[in-house]
Amino acid sequence: MGYQVIARKWRPQRFEDVIGQGAITRALGNALRTGRLHHAYLFAGPRGVGKTTCARLFARALNCLAGPTPTPCGVCPSCQEIASGESLDVLEIDAASHTGVDNIREVIIATAGNRPARDRYKVFIIDEVHMLSTSAFNALLKTLEEPPPHVIFVMATTELHKLPETILSRCQQYEFRAIGVEVIADQLQRIAEAERIQISRSALIQIAHAGRGSMRDAQSALDQVLAFTGTDAVIGESDVRESLGLIGLDFLAEVVDALDAADPGAATRHVQRLVQAGYDLRQFLRELMAYLRHLLVAQVVGLDRELLPVADRELALIERQCRRFTVADLTRFFSLLAELETQARVAEDARALVEVGLIKLTQLGRLKPLEDILARLEALLADGRAARSPAPPAGPASAAKAPAEAPARSAPAARPPAAPPSWPAEPPPAPPAENLPPEDDARKANAPDALDETDAKALLRRLKALAEQDRRPLLSVHLDAVVAARWQGNDFELVFGPAAQAAEQYVAQPREKLYLRESLQRLTRKAANIVTRLERHPTKGAVSEREAREAALRAEAEGHPAVQAIQKRFGAVLLEVKPPGD
Ligand SMILES: Nc1ncnc2c1ncn2[C@@H]1O[C@H](COP(=O)(O)OP(=O)(O)OP(=O)(O)O)[C@@H](O)[C@H]1O
Ligand SMILES: [Mg+2]
Ligand SMILES: [Zn+2]
Repeated sequence: MGYQVIARKWRPQRFEDVIGQGAITRALGNALRTGRLHHAYLFAGPRGVGKTTCARLFARALNCLAGPTPTPCGVCPSCQEIASGESLDVLEIDAASHTGVDNIREVIIATAGNRPARDRYKVFIIDEVHMLSTSAFNALLKTLEEPPPHVIFVMATTELHKLPETILSRCQQYEFRAIGVEVIADQLQRIAEAERIQISRSALIQIAHAGRGSMRDAQSALDQVLAFTGTDAVIGESDVRESLGLIGLDFLAEVVDALDAADPGAATRHVQRLVQAGYDLRQFLRELMAYLRHLLVAQVVGLDRELLPVADRELALIERQCRRFTVADLTRFFSLLAELETQARVAEDARALVEVGLIKLTQLGRLKPLEDILARLEALLADGRAARSPAPPAGPASAAKAPAEAPARSAPAARPPAAPPSWPAEPPPAPPAENLPPEDDARKANAPDALDETDAKALLRRLKALAEQDRRPLLSVHLDAVVAARWQGNDFELVFGPAAQAAEQYVAQPREKLYLRESLQRLTRKAANIVTRLERHPTKGAVSEREAREAALRAEAEGHPAVQAIQKRFGAVLLEVKPPGD
């Protein structure tokens, strides 16, 4: 018998063998036990974390002779045929290779109306459902809207955001998680023991890490290590690094040291070491990006284990290095590396590209003060102009416009950019701000605030538009509840109305904040913190009776055990509470 890859051999045959998705397997188990079944399920999440596995197990659980049961027997004809993909009543469609409407018509629409051939339910498993064409979605939608009673859909996708809202709203959603490094390593260890593979724990951790949250990828990596190393000796970390071509965090940390020291020589030597050891330079760029991403996340949200799936030792490394650079620096490094990575795909001389790229990175940090100076100069100029020109007739909006548009054309800013490096020691010719007559001081102090306020509102609109573009409809909806946006120093503060607690909580999630932060950076080229705040006391006690009533209703709803149960079980968020008769 030939070698069966680990991922296939070790596909869980029972819900309790599925690791890292406890919340989901419990919820599915409960539904099966109580018979409270939905007619459409959607399993979403990253690759190789158990979506297809759970879809097949669920089908088995529904149709097992002894079922519906959370513990299908595995031996009855239904169980066995489902396992071997021969069941007439459990149809699996790979939407990635059957994107068209014809397939949906043939396989689903035409057969859904028929009674199951033998089993309790007709189960349609649609894998990679986001790949369906628009017309296929529309065809599917009709059956989803009025499904025959014996039909159950289980859809799986790695790209939830690509699904139309119409489909989403008709499914019960389960979000599968990326699996933690330790959890993956534990599973690999079980496999290694059963397969009599001798391998150290730290080697397993490293393989688990290479899986990046995917059990399947980790298992494939283990296959690769086994193919590369013999089975006579105990497999160690260096074997893993070698067989997977991993560069490893220690080396990356050294590269980061070189960037920190702004040492182009060290950077060049690192590239030399990589080339000599025969590493793939693109792999290096990707690993370095992943590492910078870790540093960034650690700095922005702290050492969150869920967001930083690395081994303990590596977490310590990240903690040590995460504050070496500002967020602005890190994001700049990151974009440059991303660019390099793309270029390296087609470059004839990848080595030179990476060398020059790294040298550039060591120099990037030094550009920053110049930018700061330019920004400060612009601000001064803006103030100066605002002070000299007659006060604009209208309010803050028009005051805000002038400075934003003009700086490049005014005389002092036209000074050639070659000069700035000496500025820190030798200030530029006195900027007009110093000529301000004293009576203008009050205006001067007020103008920037007015400017930022207007800016912030426009920014909020742009952020919302971006969220829509990036297919984050929920975020966009929740941003509607922002009643004021403003700059507080380096913080971009979003203030939510007193009744918008759910929206505020949603936006305050690390993932959303990180996204907003990045968007803000895209828009302003400035690194800022996103801060959310709930307005507790509506201004001047001007709460309308209606608002007060809504707040009371919301409190009532939030306290209701059924609502709490739904929130707990499904992670639901209370969006809106409507007064009865509304
Ligand atoms: N949660 C898990 N517990 C145990 N093994 C798992 C788990 N997830 C994945 N695996 C292993 O990875 C293999 C592939 O898993 P599965 O097909 O369920 O992934 P998937 O989430 O559907 O991935 P994809 O999105 O790439 O289709 C399984 O055969 C199993 O060996
Ligand atoms: Mg799958
Ligand atoms: Zn059975």
